[in-house]
Amino acid sequence: VRDKAKTSLSRPTPPFFRALADYAANGSHAWHCPGHSGGQAFLKSPFGEMFQRFFGENLLRADACNAVKELGHLLDHSGAVADAEQMVARILHCDHAYFVTHGTSTSNKIVWQSMLAPGDIVLVDRNCHKSVLHAIILTGATPVFLPPTRNHYGIIGPVPQREFEWKSIKRRIDAHPLIGKDNNKAPRLLTITQSTYDGILYNADAIKKLLDGKINVLHFDEAWLPHATFDDFYAQYHAIGKNCPRCQHSLVFSTQSTHKVLAGLSQASQVLVHNAIEQQLDLHKFNEAYLMHSSTSPQYAIIASCEMAIAMMEGSDGKTLVGEAIHEALEFRRAMLQTSQQYKASEGWWFTIWGPEDGGSSEREASILKDDDTWHGFGKTGNGFNLLDPIKVTILTPGLDINGNLTTGPGQGIPACIVASYLAEQGIIVEKYGLYSLLVIFSIGVSRDSWRTLLTALHRFKRDYDCNLSLVKALPKLLTEQAKYKTMGLRDLCRQIHRIFLENDIARLTTSLHVDQSAVAMTPAQAFACMMQHKTERVVIDDLHGRIASGLLTPYPPGIPLLMPGEIFNRNAVKFLQFIRHYNHRFPGFENDMQGLLKDEKGEYYVDCVVTQR
Ligand SMILES: Cc1ncc(COP(=O)(O)O)c(C=O)c1O
Repeated sequence: VRDKAKTSLSRPTPPFFRALADYAANGSHAWHCPGHSGGQAFLKSPFGEMFQRFFGENLLRADACNAVKELGHLLDHSGAVADAEQMVARILHCDHAYFVTHGTSTSNKIVWQSMLAPGDIVLVDRNCHKSVLHAIILTGATPVFLPPTRNHYGIIGPVPQREFEWKSIKRRIDAHPLIGKDNNKAPRLLTITQSTYDGILYNADAIKKLLDGKINVLHFDEAWLPHATFDDFYAQYHAIGKNCPRCQHSLVFSTQSTHKVLAGLSQASQVLVHNAIEQQLDLHKFNEAYLMHSSTSPQYAIIASCEMAIAMMEGSDGKTLVGEAIHEALEFRRAMLQTSQQYKASEGWWFTIWGPEDGGSSEREASILKDDDTWHGFGKTGNGFNLLDPIKVTILTPGLDINGNLTTGPGQGIPACIVASYLAEQGIIVEKYGLYSLLVIFSIGVSRDSWRTLLTALHRFKRDYDCNLSLVKALPKLLTEQAKYKTMGLRDLCRQIHRIFLENDIARLTTSLHVDQSAVAMTPAQAFACMMQHKTERVVIDDLHGRIASGLLTPYPPGIPLLMPGEIFNRNAVKFLQFIRHYNHRFPGFENDMQGLLKDEKGEYYVDCVVTQR
């Protein structure tokens, strides 16, 4: 550790942090906002004083106004901010780096708004984050969705390689109901989710080779991938970096949430740009879009963390830190596998880790998806076209097999929502959970102690499940609000929820919802406009079949929309919402969070739809 610290301290302090620390230390008298004047205002009230003590004086002293000249300006990328952005661009081997203080949700919108106009055709991975769908609405672009894969565990897979062949893209555009065969328009932009929420990466070099010059802008939404550039484990499977090929014609953007895996504060994000040999980013044009999505009062602590998250990784430190995260993730995978073998010997059950059979292998080859692998369940996606990022670990709970069959028997049928609640009661919060899967992320701060704590908690869950511990003891916080579970045990509740999933064949239903594309009646922007022009009405879910959605319908997490504005409800979508209604009524405390699904005081559910002529 001391050696590591020495390496880092032999470099100059990152420029923006240095300027900010100097500013805070100088204790200037501020006649500008923020109104708390370096924290002084909080001292006028006992609550304010608590706030000031909790966050510490420096956070408030460093909470500066954009009128402070020595800190430079985020909005025109000048002064200390520009120095910091240039330092990050140098470390990350890109032509331009821009800090964004409102998350990659905003970075995505900036990239889109800087490159697109209404009516432009865009190619989008259907499993993209909802911020990309917001960008579709904002720009008025016409999206052509690339079909996703998804396995029956509910894990989001890649768009297969064959879908990136130009012939296949052209066929898809020609078949689009709002574009038509006679178009001579090329798609202007492609957005691909790199990695998917569950950790599947694309071979970015292969995508560039297939689409360079055919699509003007290749945008990789690498919200989950700011670490990849620092370790050869990810070579070829990220968009911009030292050895990433430059396109001849197409501009390449990568949008990254530095806060997701690296040491950034929440909302710290960056837009990276790789010019093409024959196309350079128009900086002025880009900044017009940047300004449109940026506050004129940015949070300087977030700017400093955008810079610091990358400065920490310079030189060999990045490789060391990312290598440690991968190492700990593999150790956890091995420990889980070992535990499983021990329980198997005594015919007991245990959780499984989703991934290659030799799960703990540190060989990169083991993490590369092959067409004849059976573990991933995505079918033929193209040999070597995808890689599973080992730092994203999916824990499968017993109850569902790879074919979508819900399994029964001792130790079977443990819905992930209950394990997630159990862990949360003990202060362990997983990143997300599906029907029978939990996702945990080994970011660069995760230590051996953290995963051992998780492992111990999983052992405790097994013990409490096996003895059907009373829910009063297993989920005490939930029980203070939901007395209806008072007489039940942990296993009883698992069985009840498992049964309702079984009766509704829920794994297959959710897969088909995400894989079968819905029919399209209008562009997302047109449907969204109907909402603002009062041309929508609230429709009860039993009457939704055939109706056009006016807003996004998004289960959260993972925040990937089920239905886009302008898409038509099919029977499966209605069936799924009916299931949600039934499930939410029966199992309060474990409700599905579905954004866009409205509920009235009588417990009926509605969706806003476009008013159609009758
Ligand atoms: C693929 C993807 N893109 C963008 C985002 C948004 O990132 P942020 O939370 O930094 O706004 C997320 C968030 O989970 C994401 O998963």
